[in-house]
Amino acid sequence: MTVPAQGLPPKIRIHEVGPRDGLQNEKTLVPTEAKAEFVHRLAAAGLTTIEATSFVHPKWVPQLADAETLFPLVQDIGAGVRLPVLVPNERGLDRALTLGAHRIAVFASATESFAKANLNRTVAESLAMFEPVVSRAKEHGAHVRGYLSMCFGDPWEGAVPVHQVVSVATSLLDMGCDELSLGDTIGVATPGHVQTLLSELNEAGVPTDVIGVHFHDTYGQALANTLAALQHGVTTVDASAGGLGGCPYAKSATGNLATEDLVWMLEGLGIETGVDLGRLTATSVWMAGILGRPSPSRTVRALAPEAQPDQEQ
Ligand code: HMG
Ligand code: MG
Repeated sequence: MTVPAQGLPPKIRIHEVGPRDGLQNEKTLVPTEAKAEFVHRLAAAGLTTIEATSFVHPKWVPQLADAETLFPLVQDIGAGVRLPVLVPNERGLDRALTLGAHRIAVFASATESFAKANLNRTVAESLAMFEPVVSRAKEHGAHVRGYLSMCFGDPWEGAVPVHQVVSVATSLLDMGCDELSLGDTIGVATPGHVQTLLSELNEAGVPTDVIGVHFHDTYGQALANTLAALQHGVTTVDASAGGLGGCPYAKSATGNLATEDLVWMLEGLGIETGVDLGRLTATSVWMAGILGRPSPSRTVRALAPEAQPDQEQ
């Protein structure tokens, strides 16, 4: 049943991160052909932005070491579907541009601890590493997303001061990023914190229309946080099919907001997504079969209770 609520945007763009954030933490290597089918199935379900893979060091994220093989396998997807890829440095950019990537994402941290763990750099060193990546990507006409991790809490440093997040966010925009994605990497945010951060970013001159939100669901807050962001006017929401995900370099990071849970809420609110929930759920059930465990998504479990692998009911 559709019952609209006041003060929400009429349309949302879902930035699907299942093939990248969803799979990057999986210990068992998923065959490249299955990853390509995953991306195709997500596109067929109506997702129009699908983060395909990462051009990071293959030893750092072995699951995505097949980026060179995978990326060409998804190029037959129509131009209406954007296929961004993660790129940490110029080496990664070269690899992505050679294969014709049009959209890249750099990934910064609001905290020193995670910058060190994830990028082997201080925050300042990682921003310096991204500068030539962003400028060269722009010269090639590529769209650049700037992820910002640990926007709310950090497993080593605890609560993250809002001003610290605002400072790195503005650096990413100043160097030329077209959009930001605010990451709650370990899923500790709550809605008031989300609204405060968004307001402080606006105060610092960052318009809401360049901001996306990226919630992990560790404490079950991802949908509540998303609703808070929508109420603030945010129209780009990151999510992962089936609720897969987690960061190998952040202790306690679990799955992303499940795309199905997001679509269920948005459909109930009458907000357009263009996603076919049945096809998407079938895709997550299929991927759960490959991974050998049920999807953590409440919506997938509700819509397809019989179809999931039964190892962890
Ligand atoms: P490093 O060890 O400092 O690398 O790692 P380096 O710059 O010293 O280079 C060492 C060697 O690696 C060199 O080779 C480079 O060429 C090679 P050598 O000259 O010794 O033969 N190398 C590469 N090879 C292939 N592709 C590359 C590349 N770069 C260097 N791109 C580095 C630094 C950034 C590479 C490493 O730390 C890394 O790859 N980190 C990636 C970690 C990662 O992918 N984390 C997960 C994504 S972030 C996330 O999940 C959070 C997010 O979802 C938002 C949220 O939830 O908050 C986005
Ligand atoms: Mg993430």
